Amino acid sequence: MIEVKNVEKSFGEQKVLKGITTTFETGKTNLIIGQSGSGKTVLLKSLLGIHTVDVGTISFDGRIYSEMSADDKRTLRTEIGMVFQGSALFDSMTVEENIGFPLKMFTNKTPREIQERVDFVIDRVKLIDAHKKKPSEISGGMQKRVAIARAIVNNPKYLFCDEPNSGLDPKTAVVIDNLIQEITQEYNITTVVNTHDMNSVMEIGEKIIFLKEGVLAWEGTKKEIFKTDNEAIVDFVYSSELFKKVRKAQNRADKL
Ligand SMILES: Nc1ncnc2c1ncn2[C@@H]1O[C@H](COP(=O)(O)OP(=O)(O)O)[C@@H](O)[C@H]1O
Ligand SMILES: [Mg+2]
Repeated sequence: MIEVKNVEKSFGEQKVLKGITTTFETGKTNLIIGQSGSGKTVLLKSLLGIHTVDVGTISFDGRIYSEMSADDKRTLRTEIGMVFQGSALFDSMTVEENIGFPLKMFTNKTPREIQERVDFVIDRVKLIDAHKKKPSEISGGMQKRVAIARAIVNNPKYLFCDEPNSGLDPKTAVVIDNLIQEITQEYNITTVVNTHDMNSVMEIGEKIIFLKEGVLAWEGTKKEIFKTDNEAIVDFVYSSELFKKVRKAQNRADKL
């Protein structure tokens, strides 16, 4: 479990995170949702230690980040898998070299052990006939699978994904969302996914936090999100007037 307590982060005069307190649960796909510019990526990068927070604490299964030694921080870093926005694959490397890269960099595994583990995760994310291909030779959905395989190759305890299905068609996006959720449950990972996509919320929203202008404006589950009267979230979820009308009609029907 990751615990975030009263976290604030500013850039110059601009306060981007305004006192965030929440928990991200183990074995669950925790979603951070909100409009573009609401602070999702800054929060994820704060978890990752790329940003140092100004106020508040972040703890990883009881380990308070700001109180950890440099060595312990390095160890923690090896326990985190990250899927960056836009996949961020190495263009000049093959699929299997991309996926094996963290093992080569951060472990003492032999080339043979690396190959075995790479083959295993390639199978797990169902990448077919792709071992020797370059990222430019496979589809966007396949590239995401490579990014996910690379993120889980070192058996992470924590998995962070920034807008993992941006740029994908809606069907492929759902497949990728579900893959992340399956892997999270299968390996009991504490997963945090940033998204502004309502399809993701409906598919995998087990625990959702909603950011509005750097404030945690609501939290709950996908079931609760369609019942809440919280104005900010209703406005985000039902961004079109037509949806708002459908929702009102549904609520009336529920009461009959
Ligand atoms: N490194 C940075 N320096 C200055 N401002 C930043 C930096 N990163 C993000 N911001 C600002 O923080 C706000 C939130 O950004 P971000 O977390 O990327 O939003 P989201 O991911 O929800 O779209 C934006 O106004 C953005 O301009
Ligand atoms: Mg972002």
